[in-house]
Amino acid sequence: MTNYKIALLDGDGIGPEIMTEAVKIMELVAERKDIEFELVHAPFGAQAYFDYGHSFPEETKAICDQADAILKGPIGLSHEESKKIPVDMQPERGALLPLRRRFNTYANFRPVFLPKGLAHFSPLKPEIIGDGIDFIIIRELVGGLYFGKKETGVNAAGKRYVNESLEYDEDQIARIAISAFETAQKRKKVLHNIHKSNVLKSSVLWNEVVAEVGEDYPDVEVIHILVDAAATYLCLNPGQFDVMVMENMFGDILSDQAGGILGSLGLMPSACIGPDKAYYEPSHGSAPDIAGQFIANPYSMIGSVAMMLEMSFGMEDEAKKVWHAMQSVFAQGNSTPDLSKPGAGVNMISTHAFGDLVAKELAKS
Ligand code: IPM
Ligand code: MG
Repeated sequence: MTNYKIALLDGDGIGPEIMTEAVKIMELVAERKDIEFELVHAPFGAQAYFDYGHSFPEETKAICDQADAILKGPIGLSHEESKKIPVDMQPERGALLPLRRRFNTYANFRPVFLPKGLAHFSPLKPEIIGDGIDFIIIRELVGGLYFGKKETGVNAAGKRYVNESLEYDEDQIARIAISAFETAQKRKKVLHNIHKSNVLKSSVLWNEVVAEVGEDYPDVEVIHILVDAAATYLCLNPGQFDVMVMENMFGDILSDQAGGILGSLGLMPSACIGPDKAYYEPSHGSAPDIAGQFIANPYSMIGSVAMMLEMSFGMEDEAKKVWHAMQSVFAQGNSTPDLSKPGAGVNMISTHAFGDLVAKELAKS
């Protein structure tokens, strides 16, 4: 029997509760496809720091090293709780970035999808949404400002200063460009390259390398857009986009904006792909303010499972069925509280209920 070992990093805040629903779906998939998922939970994040003294404990590293894929929940606690953790151990710097670095997960895929029938979740007017929103952000994930040299100190004038650099070499740009062109080839063959070359030298090199890589993909049209303009177009005409590629920091910001135009970051799963290993995670945070209330939307966590099925295990059909099951649950008039206001004419459901209904829909397909 095919056996896949999956490291489950539940994370903080709402992480464990949305992970429970993802596990529900994985167990059902295993049963349907007659395969085995060996699910190994491992501590990761702020709670791991309090329990084990490290936000990415050695034991967790070993479990991730041995896994075929990693499914990660959101991390981080409230501002007050986070302050109890030394700056370099805080889960973003102490766990998440080291995870990305360890597995060199340079290609971050963030699908932005809302069918026409669910346009009521979006803050955009129906005429802007048109036939629905359907594009993908491809974000470089292990370079740029996040991983550049950092220096803090006191300068000659006695002032505190900070210096952090945005670094890329041509190989780092070329490999993410290849991921983007290949994705564009499989979709509408239009690639929006997002940059800031009117100011940043890093974008000048980025654009040069994208053009060089593009020579191998003559069937893909490349459209260059400045990042600030892209932010506006995401609100005014998101339908023009199909595949967008950008450096790390731009991708962090625009992907949250993309979640905003869908109506919630709860609709933003993601895949983080490296040369040998991939991990999957919701794009949103751990929402400590609603943790334990079971009102969190598990869509992005279950969507991350769908991406894992497709991208790590080649189970494209089953992945499509999981997406479809989630869309059907919403199309039947259900909503989680992040997506609708009470009294909006929807049936408001809990975290568990969403998982149960998705499982029911999936079982039918
Ligand atoms: C994301 C998150 C992370 C990032 C944080 C938690 C460090 O915002 O995955 O988009 O900035 O990359
Ligand atoms: Mg982000």
